[in-house]
Amino acid sequence: MGQVTVMDHPLIQHKLTIIRQTTTGTKDFREVVSEIAMLMAYEVTRDMPLEDIEIETPLVKSVQKTLSGKKVAIIPILRAGLGMVDGFLAMLPAAKVGHVGLYRDEETFEPHEYFVKLPADIKERQLFVVDPMLATGGSAIAAIEALEKRGAKPSNIKFVCLVAAPEGVKVLKEAYPDVEIVVAALDERLNENGYILPGLGDAGDRLFGTK
Ligand code: PRP
Ligand code: URA
Repeated sequence: MGQVTVMDHPLIQHKLTIIRQTTTGTKDFREVVSEIAMLMAYEVTRDMPLEDIEIETPLVKSVQKTLSGKKVAIIPILRAGLGMVDGFLAMLPAAKVGHVGLYRDEETFEPHEYFVKLPADIKERQLFVVDPMLATGGSAIAAIEALEKRGAKPSNIKFVCLVAAPEGVKVLKEAYPDVEIVVAALDERLNENGYILPGLGDAGDRLFGTK
């Protein structure tokens, strides 16, 4: 069964409390989402493989560590996932960035795909799919399906989000047991409109100042 990790680092919890509040405006919301994403990127890359290389310091030759293994791609789910890209790129500046555009029907909560653009060698890469919210799980599953259809292996995917509902975690784990799910907070439940409680509202609208 897919693993779920809740990153309850004090800095992450503190910053999450800031973005949950109605009084936090677009500018601060955007900045703090980016900061949380950076902290999460640091943690989700903890298992990246290393290899030895020989280098020369100004004094001696020496064997030191360097990243090895798969190259990385960051895949934001549009729109709100875009808010997490800069934070990830701060830690992984050479990563490629693919995009999956989805919006959720407000009545049925069904995701609709409108855009997919991915690095050509997606099969070879470690993928970080980023989206601040995992609510019903429909968007996460549709995004991973879009990647899988284009050759990505679920076992190479980590789904990284800020706030998740237990309902979304359950369906995502059932649909993709090999995808590791990493969240900053596991909230209480969904309301009748498919919003996470206590949540933070509509992440896309809060990031981009739309309604
Ligand atoms: C939000 C959010 C997720 C999705 C989560 O996007 O960013 O992608 O809802 O809900 P789900 O788990 O029930 O599918 P939304 O569809 O509002 O689009 P946006 O990012 O363009 O605002
Ligand atoms: N999408 C959001 O942006 N917020 C929620 O609470 C649920 C889905």
